[in-house]
Amino acid sequence: MPASFAEKYGPWAIVAGASEGLGAAFAEALAARGLNLILLARRADKLEAVAESLRANAGVEVRAEVCDLARPDLATTLAALTAGAEVGLGVYNAAFAPVGALVERPLEDLTRVIDVSVRAPLVFARVLAPAMVARGRGGLVLMSSLAGCQGSPRIAAYAGAKAFNIVFGESLWGELRLRGVDVVVSAAGAVRTPGYAAAATGDAPGTLDARTVAERTLDALGNGPVVTPGATNRLARFVMGRLLPRRMQIAIMARSTEGLS
Ligand SMILES: NC(=O)c1ccc[n+]([C@@H]2O[C@H](COP(=O)([O-])OP(=O)(O)OC[C@H]3O[C@@H](n4cnc5c(N)ncnc54)[C@H](OP(=O)(O)O)[C@@H]3O)[C@@H](O)[C@H]2O)c1
Repeated sequence: MPASFAEKYGPWAIVAGASEGLGAAFAEALAARGLNLILLARRADKLEAVAESLRANAGVEVRAEVCDLARPDLATTLAALTAGAEVGLGVYNAAFAPVGALVERPLEDLTRVIDVSVRAPLVFARVLAPAMVARGRGGLVLMSSLAGCQGSPRIAAYAGAKAFNIVFGESLWGELRLRGVDVVVSAAGAVRTPGYAAAATGDAPGTLDARTVAERTLDALGNGPVVTPGATNRLARFVMGRLLPRRMQIAIMARSTEGLS
């Protein structure tokens, strides 16, 4: 009989960036699948509200841990926060997405993208994976974006960071699957989240709710390396990536990011 999700990826999961939006949806989906949770984000009130609702409704253990993933001591912090918990699944969801021309953005914003969306998922995987490899089971989920599949003007640093996550996750998929650890990168299209609502003027074609993206991404664990939830988004990824010249892909992305603020 195939192992249940909780047998394969439990008993604990950690979600980085879980105080709202897609991270909260991942937490909800994982609690429904019977995993205890360690939730990370900076805003204590929002994080605790997510945790409290899951404790009340899903009957799992939930620890809410305030943590800035951009901090240089992240490896030590993660090791301390997960000590004593058998973490079988790590979801790296957090991102920082400054919008606008590179020459007009403060340098600190641009390097923060690297801290939150490149350095931190790398540290996250490096801290969590060894125990999974030792147990011969586990999973890692990295959130990327269709914006990371080609150049994306006005979100250059974010798009570059999301491209890193695709290639990094594919590489880990190749390394870890033979050792029992499943890796999947979710190259999502637009997702209805507070972050997206603040940046966009309305739903882009193919926009999905956060719960759908979380469920489809978790369902893809074991089938990786990359999943794109939603048929419209998969078609867009195929047409953009396989059929159009690179210059045209970048021009299309430029049109879709010109309305972001
Ligand atoms: N929304 C979309 O349309 C879309 C499309 C494609 C891909 N994605 C990807 O999906 C993921 C989630 O997107 P989202 O729209 O839900 O993002 P979001 O609204 O910006 O939320 C991100 C979460 O990460 C946390 N976070 C951000 N920076 C953090 C830091 N330095 N330390 C700790 N926690 C931090 C936030 O909590 P605090 O502020 O409380 O720390 C929040 O819980 C991202 O990786 C994004 O790139 C989103």
